[in-house]
Amino acid sequence: MFIKAAALLAAFQATGAVAALSGEARAMMEDSMAWMDRFYDPKINQLYDLESKAAMNHETLPSAWYAVGLLARNGNDGKDVSAAESVISYIIADQHDNPKDLWYGDYTREPEEPDVGSSVYPAQAYRSWDPNWRGFVGLSFITIYEDFGNLLSQSVKDLMLESLYNCSVGDSYREGGVNNDNLYPAYSNPAIMRAIGTGWTGRKTGDANMTNAGEEYAKKIIDLYDKHDTLSEFNSATYTGISLFGLTLWCKYAPEDSIMAKRGPDMLRGVWNTTAQLWHAGMRNLAGPWDRSYSFDMTISLGHLSLWLAPMIGRKESGLHQYPEIMSHARDWGWAPLIAVHSEFQSSLLSDELKQSLKTFSGERTWNGQAYYPPYDLESRNITTWLGEKLMIGAQSYRTKSQNGPSNNNGQFHPAVAQWQYGDDEIGWLSLRSSQAHMKMEVSPNRLKLTYPDGGADSVFAFFVSPSLRQTNVKSWADIQGVSISISGNVNTTPVLTFAGRYGGSAGAYYDHNYWRFEHKMPSGFTGTPELIIEFAPED
Ligand SMILES: *[C@@H]1O[C@H](CO)[C@@H](O)[C@H](O)[C@H]1NC(C)=O
Ligand SMILES: *[C@@H]1O[C@H](CO)[C@@H](O)[C@H](O)[C@H]1NC(C)=O
Ligand SMILES: *[C@@H]1O[C@H](CO)[C@@H](O)[C@H](O)[C@H]1NC(C)=O
Ligand SMILES: *[C@@H]1O[C@H](CO)[C@@H](O)[C@H](O)[C@H]1NC(C)=O
Repeated sequence: MFIKAAALLAAFQATGAVAALSGEARAMMEDSMAWMDRFYDPKINQLYDLESKAAMNHETLPSAWYAVGLLARNGNDGKDVSAAESVISYIIADQHDNPKDLWYGDYTREPEEPDVGSSVYPAQAYRSWDPNWRGFVGLSFITIYEDFGNLLSQSVKDLMLESLYNCSVGDSYREGGVNNDNLYPAYSNPAIMRAIGTGWTGRKTGDANMTNAGEEYAKKIIDLYDKHDTLSEFNSATYTGISLFGLTLWCKYAPEDSIMAKRGPDMLRGVWNTTAQLWHAGMRNLAGPWDRSYSFDMTISLGHLSLWLAPMIGRKESGLHQYPEIMSHARDWGWAPLIAVHSEFQSSLLSDELKQSLKTFSGERTWNGQAYYPPYDLESRNITTWLGEKLMIGAQSYRTKSQNGPSNNNGQFHPAVAQWQYGDDEIGWLSLRSSQAHMKMEVSPNRLKLTYPDGGADSVFAFFVSPSLRQTNVKSWADIQGVSISISGNVNTTPVLTFAGRYGGSAGAYYDHNYWRFEHKMPSGFTGTPELIIEFAPED
């Protein structure tokens, strides 16, 4: 199996990745670059903040993606290549370089930031420094080194290796549960990136201990994967896309004797297989449940997964808008050149049957599976997703350390989700907000049942539900557009209804999405096990 991958790789190296860019992959790269070009500040060779929310401060990470795009485009009479070298050199000059710091070898968030860990700018992971930037920038650099190294000067290549070496040493400081770090092997997207970043860098720099660390870490990820043939960080329009990115690099850049080359292709196919089951081509959306999501609808908020889908099935068909920069989470449109560079190689590892299955909705189906994310999952989760023509329902039974779910991230955890299609390609949705560490679900056609085994009189079932231009004032479930919803069970069937929006209401928007919040409490004097049933009838 990996022999096939190696042969394909040789073919790619012979033709050169640039020549391989065609069709939507090329269009994606060119459109994303035309957009990012406008953010490029030649004064310092970095991009301004891509979401225009930073008073024209610059941003390190998209600058790395942009460097990939400059090299993939390789235009403007050589100016793209020299700009790429300047962008890369700037990022590396800015890299944290004190080996005593936990953020050693990481890349800055913005060039303008004060020293991390100073009294004025305390070190706060995922705030003043983001430990996952090592993976995102590091793997962008590895892509550049491998696919476009022939365009770069030796001094820039040497600098990149030194930078990646520091990056990997710093990454080795991370261990889930130590220093409040959350990088467990189950945190799939950065874990997969760490394994290849460290393994590749160890080999290139001749550091056997580092090479071995990459292999050992990969084994831990593989062991978790083999438990249920699913990623621990299960199903996410954004993070499945990043995990696929990391796995693609396992397949493309790990040498044959690496466990990553041996297992990468079948894991990549396995993740795609599951994703294809949960992908609804007609609704252009990924069904739930999602361990982590910023959105409920991939046609209005950019999910990284769409960037992989677009070259295989088409831009619109992947959920992307023709002009993806107008969508929520538009910043990830900056990933497009990097994904474009890898898309044909990844696609070559996938079967025609799989690719075909992504293109059309083949009819009603149910997917059952499991996932396990230690240490937060106390046992394996059971997942059921039902997909109908215009309605899909996905939920999971889980028992976790806290109500924050398997990724310990309450805000992004969506354990029970329904989405429906109506009108002119509108998507409606509802998503349960997790308030329990233990939940049981039953999903069947047009029906969702939720039970809280450890719940009681003070339990609540709260849902975020889609607003609609058709009916801007919602007074009950009957006002939700595109589907009819009926609630039963032992809850109080009259919800407490509030609105959360960008410009007002009981709370702010959810990652740009306004929403109605329906909360069902238990009736007074309740005893027993709280349960709520939703029956759906899609609009004709
Ligand atoms: C790597 O880290 C060392 C300190 O260990 C530092 O002296 C060196 O400048 C760093 N290299 C780069 C390219 O930043
Ligand atoms: C060897 O690798 C491990 C895992 O990355 C790391 O913790 C350790 O510091 C390394 N040892 C040396 C001598 O580089
Ligand atoms: C997904 O995996 C199952 C089980 O191995 C297999 O039967 C099916 O053909 C695969 N589907 C695709 C689209 O590859
Ligand atoms: C998942 O199902 C298995 C049996 O198939 C069961 O033992 C386990 O408790 C279930 N997990 C949860 C979280 O309900």
